[in-house]
Amino acid sequence: MARSFSVFVIFFLFNFCYTHVQSNDQQGYITIDISNKGLDFLKDLLLEKAESSLLPLYLPKIEKAVKIPIVGRVHMVLSNITMERIDVTSSTVKTGDTGILIAVSGATANLSMNWKYSYSTWLIPIAVSDEGSATIRVEGLEIELTLSLKNLQGSLKLSVPDCGCDVKDISIKLDGGASWLYQGLVNAFEGNIVSAVENAVSKKIKDGIIKLDSALQSLPKEVPITNIASLNVTFVEDPKLSESSLDLEIDGLLSAKDENMVSNHDHKTLQASLSCKEVDKMVRISLHEDVLNSASTVYFEAKKMHWIVDNVSDQSLLNTAGWRFIIPQLYKLYPNDDINLNISVSSLPTIKIEKQHIVATIPLDVVIDVLDAGEVIPVAGVSMVISASISAEISGNTLYGSVKLNDFSMSLKWSKIGDLHMRLVQSVISTMLKTVILPYVNLQLRKGHLLPVFHGYKLQDAQIVYVDSWIVICSNVASPQKIQSCLVPASRKGSLVHETITRLDAGN
Ligand SMILES: *[C@@H]1O[C@H](CO)[C@@H](O)[C@H](O)[C@H]1NC(C)=O
Ligand SMILES: *[C@@H]1O[C@H](CO)[C@@H](O)[C@H](O)[C@H]1NC(C)=O
Ligand SMILES: *[C@@H]1O[C@H](CO)[C@@H](O)[C@H](O)[C@H]1NC(C)=O
Ligand SMILES: *[C@@H]1O[C@H](CO)[C@@H](O)[C@H](O)[C@H]1NC(C)=O
Ligand SMILES: *[C@@H]1O[C@H](CO)[C@@H](O)[C@H](O)[C@H]1NC(C)=O
Repeated sequence: MARSFSVFVIFFLFNFCYTHVQSNDQQGYITIDISNKGLDFLKDLLLEKAESSLLPLYLPKIEKAVKIPIVGRVHMVLSNITMERIDVTSSTVKTGDTGILIAVSGATANLSMNWKYSYSTWLIPIAVSDEGSATIRVEGLEIELTLSLKNLQGSLKLSVPDCGCDVKDISIKLDGGASWLYQGLVNAFEGNIVSAVENAVSKKIKDGIIKLDSALQSLPKEVPITNIASLNVTFVEDPKLSESSLDLEIDGLLSAKDENMVSNHDHKTLQASLSCKEVDKMVRISLHEDVLNSASTVYFEAKKMHWIVDNVSDQSLLNTAGWRFIIPQLYKLYPNDDINLNISVSSLPTIKIEKQHIVATIPLDVVIDVLDAGEVIPVAGVSMVISASISAEISGNTLYGSVKLNDFSMSLKWSKIGDLHMRLVQSVISTMLKTVILPYVNLQLRKGHLLPVFHGYKLQDAQIVYVDSWIVICSNVASPQKIQSCLVPASRKGSLVHETITRLDAGN
């Protein structure tokens, strides 16, 4: 039993880990508040992705007839114009009224191309032609784009209302060719190359955003998080942009897989004053206690909350002999028989988040079974209410938890062995809870649970804060050592982050 219980505790300590992303007057039960620092991290990630999908960039062929002094009219063609590499030295991200503004400044790029010319003059009766290659150095490449995020039927709709690219300066270096050719190229083509680069870069970025948008649109609205429960990740309300953060809200309640859940959205207020001690964390994820309650509803309704206790470290506690002085009539009827406790959660547990910890109140039905000659004989039923405090802590990338018994009460429901001395029974059960069951659960929780790593990205320096009705996790996100880890298939345990990255990879 202890094991299943600890699994359940671990489960509800963790269910937030498979989700990500907060404000006043909540609609959603999970909010994700990405700070400027977090946006900066996302921007770098986006630029890194953009760079690899942007390059190599092929520009259309440029062709024209040029008048060169002395030489005359020359037909020139620039082809295979390829940008192989962009070096971004500085970029910024900020939130504005219209959206998220990303600016890249002072980037440089190298392009290669082939040139070809031909001409004929009355001086030389045959056509003269030549060809070769050249490299182009682009300096002061500036890109500015605005990303707008809206809620479209529960998904995020990403668009680029504005995207501009500006090239300050280019220089061309010919491999071979005469100086007149160089001058002719520079004079006639500089403008074309600059605008070709500017257009191609803006277009590529817009295309990339369209891909990203369709990846976002096709994200499932429900993600399985355990084998019986799924999390509703429907976005509620438009993302909110403030000077210091981007706030996203998702429904965040759990339901049994493939089953609609009646969620009555009551008014939830997340105090604006709540804050993590260290403000400079990338992301703040707030979970309303109803998320935990919805998880416990799923497990309760799936009848997953029952345990048979038949093996404890002090096995004498599970024998009528051990209960001889507490329930003498039991020992008299069934001397030296083993006892099982059949424990089931009798009605929906309630979970409240208070300052410092989570408080769970669990109503239980306990049936005392005697194993006599291979037969299981229920001899008495007791109803019990346990109140326990659960606290969690994240260290490194591991979540640790602990459970403390606050209080418990019990009463006899029925008995086939006459009246029981409830005070004595209670003291034995209390001893079992405190000395056997909770220590076992805590041992499991202290072993810790590795938080899921999405493509190498993991939480770092995470802190958990409990405020009235909300759990708030403030964390940084650590980059993977190598971006290569993007190729390692991760478990499909639903995460938007994970899904997005997968789809982006597939989209490239
Ligand atoms: C076009 O440019 C690429 C990259 O510089 C090069 O690998 C390729 O050989 C070139 N193609 C032609 C036909 O010159
Ligand atoms: C790009 O061009 C510049 C100047 O021509 C050169 O110094 C630099 O090494 C080139 N970079 C790459 C990666 O080819
Ligand atoms: C998920 O949440 C949305 C928004 O709160 C709600 O409209 C929808 O019915 C929920 N879906 C399920 C399956 O509960
Ligand atoms: C009881 O549990 C212990 C370890 O917790 C295990 O070694 C032992 O085999 C179990 N006994 C039975 C009868 O299940
Ligand atoms: C445990 O008790 C429940 C009712 O409280 C009963 O339905 C179930 O069959 C019992 N299980 C065992 C193994 O005795």
